[in-house]
Amino acid sequence: MLKERIEVSQGDITTYEVDAIVNAANRTLLGGGGVDGAIHRAAGPKLLEECRTLNGCDTGDAKITGGYNLPAKYVIHTVGPVWYGGKNNEDALLASCYQRSLEVAVEHKVRTIAFPSISTGVYRFPFERACRIAVKTVKDFLEKNEMPEKVIFVCFSRSDYLTYLKVVDELINA
Ligand code: AR6
Repeated sequence: MLKERIEVSQGDITTYEVDAIVNAANRTLLGGGGVDGAIHRAAGPKLLEECRTLNGCDTGDAKITGGYNLPAKYVIHTVGPVWYGGKNNEDALLASCYQRSLEVAVEHKVRTIAFPSISTGVYRFPFERACRIAVKTVKDFLEKNEMPEKVIFVCFSRSDYLTYLKVVDELINA
């Protein structure tokens, strides 16, 4: 059942014991603030060392590294679009982040994966619009693929969590 494969959770993504966590990175892949900063702090300096070998990442694409000191085995780094009002292909690029992250996860036999809400912090993507794109893209992928077995949407704030619950209810549990 699809709805058993999608979970909404509130917390700090760096603490999740899953096969892979996704990072909301920038094109350099060399770290930053927000969830990216938290992941690099928790993983330790070896993560940055591996990231330096990757030559960055395009917006909408994803690249994988080890998780080092994180409980997660892998970090999948994806680069979300900066929100410029919606006329710069932001929706499709954001969908591509989820799609590419899931494809990379499958290539590495990831069974459980946790996503933060890509682009909705520093990159200013409107939260509910981003949430709908995230849920729809993950839903379509899971309908076509047996892996990953479980996707967890990790929300930092209570209000973000409630928005995800509402959208998942609308798009999946209906
Ligand atoms: N666990 C889960 N979610 C978190 C955490 C955490 N520990 N910390 C923040 N969030 P952002 P972006 C949520 O700004 O908008 C960085 O500097 C946060 O509440 O981290 O894609 C990168 O290097 C928000 O909902 O990522 C890039 O330069 C979501 O994570 C740029 O920011 C994403 O917010 C990327 O911006």
